[in-house]
Amino acid sequence: MSSSRYPGAKPSLIVRKLHPENQETPIHFITGDEIDHKMFYRRNHFSYPTLTYSNYWLPINGSVVSPRIFSAQDILKLPSRTITAVLECAGNKRSFFEPKVFGEQWENGGISQGRWKGVPLRTLLELTGIQAGATEVVVEGYDYGKRTDLDNIYTYARSLPLEKALHPDTIIAYAYNDQPIPFKHGYPLRLIVPQWYGMASVKWIKQVSIVDSPFKGPFQSIDYMYYPNKENDDNSFPVTTINVNSTIQRPLNMEVLDTGKHIIKGIAWTGKGVISKVEISTDFGKTWLYANIMNQDQERYRWFSWSYEWVVLEKGDYTIMVKATDSHNQSQPTSPFWNRKGYGYNAITKIKVKIE
Ligand code: MTE
Repeated sequence: MSSSRYPGAKPSLIVRKLHPENQETPIHFITGDEIDHKMFYRRNHFSYPTLTYSNYWLPINGSVVSPRIFSAQDILKLPSRTITAVLECAGNKRSFFEPKVFGEQWENGGISQGRWKGVPLRTLLELTGIQAGATEVVVEGYDYGKRTDLDNIYTYARSLPLEKALHPDTIIAYAYNDQPIPFKHGYPLRLIVPQWYGMASVKWIKQVSIVDSPFKGPFQSIDYMYYPNKENDDNSFPVTTINVNSTIQRPLNMEVLDTGKHIIKGIAWTGKGVISKVEISTDFGKTWLYANIMNQDQERYRWFSWSYEWVVLEKGDYTIMVKATDSHNQSQPTSPFWNRKGYGYNAITKIKVKIE
């Protein structure tokens, strides 16, 4: 359908909560690989911070050889790195867990992708030096507030193990799709941690501290932990790498179609490695057929678009199932790994359609 027949009909963000602002990307209606910032999902734990940009400084302190305070100009002058990466909220698809779990009820749109430009965190840490015995890098944002489960006021802060912090693709970003990062996405500086769920990519960076013992902030040790049991915290472990996953963009779930040829299309992504195959089943998993993966040779960290030409001649109700597999041989499982806070949902993707 040409858009000119529907002037003004455009996708928009899907509101999950207004205060703090949490909105999904209309992922079914996104074309292309670089999402306009207006359609980029928004995931906030607190109200937006108030910043005075005329005087922005980034301190790096803690277990460093020489603490430094970088100006925005210092950072812009350093050699840059540009990375196109998926940013996916660990709670993406939470609403699909059975039994249901509490928290923002994200459907498929807690995910976006675009081109981030910045300075490797490593470059800055090479300038400050790191003391022997340092183990983690804590990145703190300017936003703060009260949590429902604790009495104090907390800022949004997260740590990375030294190895991930020093990876050349872990960047302190200042641009998104060639423009300064939009305020809601972390202006002037935000961390981008490819391969990890979005909680690691701290927005509005206030300071970076090197520490020599595990950071225990609530967004590290209470949230963004997998709790496999409903009743206790036994066997919990931290949320880190993105799980292999996919989303069907077309057709829509519960759409009514006619007999004939239909293009089933969508995206598939993973944290470690690249997508190696995407399979489709329309007979409840008895047979699986390969979807066509576009740009399979593209760089890491991106999602892969795929499509499948489905010829359906018999009327009836159908379930379309999609299973992505990555280069580490991880496939979407039949059932999700249920966990109390509802992170990392990646079960085989399913929609239903009616053919009449
Ligand atoms: N950084 C700060 N300072 N405050 C936040 O609430 N949310 C995190 C991460 N960084 C958050 C943050 C989470 S959970 C996600 S999924 C991503 O930012 C969302 O980034 P976006 O709002 O730009 O999409």
